[in-house]
Amino acid sequence: MAAYDEIARLPIAQADAARLPVPDSSVAAVVSVLAHTDMPAYFAVLREVARVLRPGGVFVNLGVHPCFCGGFADRGDPAAVLVRPGYLDGHWTKESWTDQGIRAKVGATHRPLPALLNAFLDAGLTFDRCAETGAPLPIVLAVRAVNR
Ligand SMILES: C[S@@+](CC[C@H](N)C(=O)[O-])C[C@H]1O[C@@H](n2cnc3c(N)ncnc32)[C@H](O)[C@@H]1O
Repeated sequence: MAAYDEIARLPIAQADAARLPVPDSSVAAVVSVLAHTDMPAYFAVLREVARVLRPGGVFVNLGVHPCFCGGFADRGDPAAVLVRPGYLDGHWTKESWTDQGIRAKVGATHRPLPALLNAFLDAGLTFDRCAETGAPLPIVLAVRAVNR
């Protein structure tokens, strides 16, 4: 019960993720869920994460797996993912293997895996753990990083 009361009193802010109303080096942890495909300026968001995290603070980024999703990855066959040309392009697209999902409606920014991970390092965030989930091939990539 005490833990619930503490959570209920956490402050909430609604803002541009690239301009957080949070002081420098002031928070112990930042979590980003399903955002790196949905914010074209996501690398600026990573720099903002590094700004608000205190040194040694932890950042967890969980999002669409860059290797198996995007306009180039066809999940029409439930037993396999057909990867077409496009992985290396790193672009915003509304292309999707299905016209039923959200991506065909709002689109997504695809970034190849090295572009995404190198942007962490460029922002001053050193990743120390990764995980991927989904079947039969990963859908989600999670990265934990520490602010230098
Ligand atoms: C795929 S949704 C994920 C939402 C939520 N994190 C979740 O897991 O359900 C991406 C969200 O990012 C928001 N968004 C896009 N650009 C943003 C920005 N610059 N700052 C804050 N939010 C943004 C969109 O409005 C959308 O709600």
